[in-house]
Amino acid sequence: MGFLTVIASGKGGTGKSTLSVGLACAFQKRGRKVLLIDVDEGLRCLDLMFGVSDRLVFDIGDIINYSKPLDDVVLNVTENIDLIAAPATLNGYDKKRFGEFLHSVTDRYDHVIVDCPAGLDVEFFNALPIFSEVLIVEPLDMIGCRSAATLETLLHAAGIKHVFLVINRFDYFVLKGNSTLSLDDIVDKSGLMIRGVVPYDPNLPLLSAEGKLFDRNCVAFRAFCRIADRLEAKDVPLPKLNNL
Ligand SMILES: Nc1ncnc2c1ncn2[C@@H]1O[C@H](COP(=O)(O)OP(=O)(O)O)[C@@H](O)[C@H]1O
Ligand SMILES: [Mg+2]
Repeated sequence: MGFLTVIASGKGGTGKSTLSVGLACAFQKRGRKVLLIDVDEGLRCLDLMFGVSDRLVFDIGDIINYSKPLDDVVLNVTENIDLIAAPATLNGYDKKRFGEFLHSVTDRYDHVIVDCPAGLDVEFFNALPIFSEVLIVEPLDMIGCRSAATLETLLHAAGIKHVFLVINRFDYFVLKGNSTLSLDDIVDKSGLMIRGVVPYDPNLPLLSAEGKLFDRNCVAFRAFCRIADRLEAKDVPLPKLNNL
């Protein structure tokens, strides 16, 4: 059975889709077969980030609600990375049956990565298989901290034990100049261990907007590779924060 990683956050715009694509590319580099599932209904964006919107025909709702075969719906976006797009409208698929679908699809891939909408959708999180690993993506600030803690409580109630934090848009100089929150504080306040720290990378918005895959040399990609290794249980220490 492959790994199932769910990328979530309380607030919007924290970098969930960026991390989802970054991890997919990091696993691809390691020769793994990856399925990305976009469930951000209405705001879907993974097809745009891969520049494949013109090729989209079906979405996750076609599998869940209309029993369309998986092979008809998945879009191969690049070598070893398949995508299932999100519905263009809200309430486009049944959440409970989506959870059951995740059980079956993990047999076919090394990694299944689910890119979630922001927020605290109890029905969605309750439907997730308990073997899911959930990565909560937040910035290093008080709002991110509270958002992560709230989501963690909800996931705990849903029976999901593997829940970790990814700090995104990390800026060492902002941390140095602001003594209100440290990495230790965010661990204490959110009750979550940190899976990775992704630096602020000015290249990312442009690469996403142009529908290009990640530049393997950009600094964020190194962080995605470290997180990918940790997801496969490899022991990768956090580099010095001033040299991410
Ligand atoms: N580490 C980062 N450094 C710089 N910009 C980032 C970083 N992570 C995400 N972004 C940018 O932030 C915006 C929101 O990211 P996105 O992944 O779409 O967030 P979400 O899926 O949580 O709404 C995008 O323009 C993206 O390129
Ligand atoms: Mg997103």
